[in-house]
Amino acid sequence: MKIRLRRRRFSQLMIVSAIVTTLGNFAKKTFAQTTPGPQLSSTRTLGPERAAIALNINGREYALNVEPRVSLLDALREELRLTGTKKGCNQGACGACTVLINGQRINSCLTLAVMNVGKSITTIEGLANGDELHPMQAAFIAHDGFQCGYCTSGQIMSAVSLVEEGHADSDAEIREWMSGNLCRCGAYPNIVAAIREVAAGGHHASV
Ligand code: FES
Ligand code: FES
Repeated sequence: MKIRLRRRRFSQLMIVSAIVTTLGNFAKKTFAQTTPGPQLSSTRTLGPERAAIALNINGREYALNVEPRVSLLDALREELRLTGTKKGCNQGACGACTVLINGQRINSCLTLAVMNVGKSITTIEGLANGDELHPMQAAFIAHDGFQCGYCTSGQIMSAVSLVEEGHADSDAEIREWMSGNLCRCGAYPNIVAAIREVAAGGHHASV
C-alpha cells in the first residue's frame, strides 16, 4: 500500500515537473520571439483622442495629429502620403514596410507613430540624393532585383542596413540576414547579386 502511494506521489511530482518545464520553455520562446520596440520618448500618458506630434522623416519635421494607436506605417502612408513604404502583412512577417529608425531597420507596422517622436526616420523616399540614386537603388535596377516591385522598397531599406551592419560577407549570410523580407515574385538571386555588389563597393550611384 505504502509503495503504491509513493508511486502515485512520484507520478504526480513528475506531472507537475513536466508542466513547469513546458511553461518555462513556452515563456522563454514567447519572450525570445518578441521584437523589442523602440522606447517611448516621454512618460506622458496619451489617451484615445488624437495627439499632436512631430516626426523627423528624411531630415524634415512633419507635424501630425494622430490617434496613439496608429502605427508608424499607417502614419507614413495615410497621414503623410509617403506611400513608398508598402503594407504587406501588417503583422511583422513580410518586411515590406521596413524603414530605418536611428539607422536601424524596423518593421514600421510594428511600431506606433507616437513612439518615434524625437527619432530619425528614413524611408525609401529619403535614400536618393536629389536625382542621384542611392547605390543600393541603382544596384537593384542594374541587377533586375525586382519584378512587381511591391517588396522592393522594404528589401532596399533592409539591404542598406544589412551592409552597414557588416552582414554581407557571403551569399549565405546575405540570405540569412535578408530572411525577414519576403518576395512573392522570387527575385531573390538578383537581390542577392545587387547587395553583394554594393557590399563589395563595386556599384556607384551614377549607374
Ligand atoms: S507589412 Fe510590416 S512586416 Fe509585413
Ligand atoms: S518583386 Fe514582387 S514581391 Fe518582390
